[in-house]
Amino acid sequence: MNDQILWFATRGAGIVSLLLLTAVVGLGVLTAVRFQRPAWPRFLTAGLHRNLALLSVAFLGVHIASAVLDPFASLGLVAAAIPFASSYRPLWVGLGVIALDLFLALVLSSLLRARLGARAWRAIHWLAYACWPLALLHGVGAGTDATAPWMLALDVGCIALVAGAVAWRLAGLRSSHAELTEVVHRRAIVETGRGA
Ligand code: HEM
Repeated sequence: MNDQILWFATRGAGIVSLLLLTAVVGLGVLTAVRFQRPAWPRFLTAGLHRNLALLSVAFLGVHIASAVLDPFASLGLVAAAIPFASSYRPLWVGLGVIALDLFLALVLSSLLRARLGARAWRAIHWLAYACWPLALLHGVGAGTDATAPWMLALDVGCIALVAGAVAWRLAGLRSSHAELTEVVHRRAIVETGRGA
């Protein structure tokens, strides 16, 4: 296969994977905060979250296969599987390998959710917040297009989306903690009143 085609495939599929991962994180947060509107039911968020995550697997497959086959980078299979084993941009490719491992753990644990149980699944799912920044850093450090204005704009757009989603999630956690404290407080007052 033409080396140029492999190089374009690595770059193109890498960028699409990052965009998909960003959308998956955003949709994951919408699922967690139970977002819904009359025109946007909850099942739509959950379905998109799941299907875009699965689509990311396909694009990451193309990204990694073309990077491994590209004779210029000559990564080899070991570098694609073991973090920092690459002789080509070892740090940045290594971060991509860790992001991939975390992403695969997220996808596999979600497919096995019924067997794992909700607690273990949720604990693993927090890894998404580590996976996404590692993938972004990998793209910025390893990518040929990292300094192109359009790529910088895409990166900034992705960062803004995920930062907004995380802020929303944290606000949701804080308000549910406040609600829980209120319930416990009220119950304590009622029980003290009964005891008196
Ligand atoms: C979650 C996992 C990953 C995501 C989201 C991702 C995404 C990206 C992005 C956005 C770029 C920049 C492309 C450009 O600037 O044109 C890139 C570059 C690159 N990635 Fe990944 N990547 C991931 C995992 C991996 C893995 C596991 C490998 C190892 C085989 C890898 C190998 C490369 C290479 C060699 C480049 C540089 C391509 C070039 O020369 O421009 N990536 N990746």
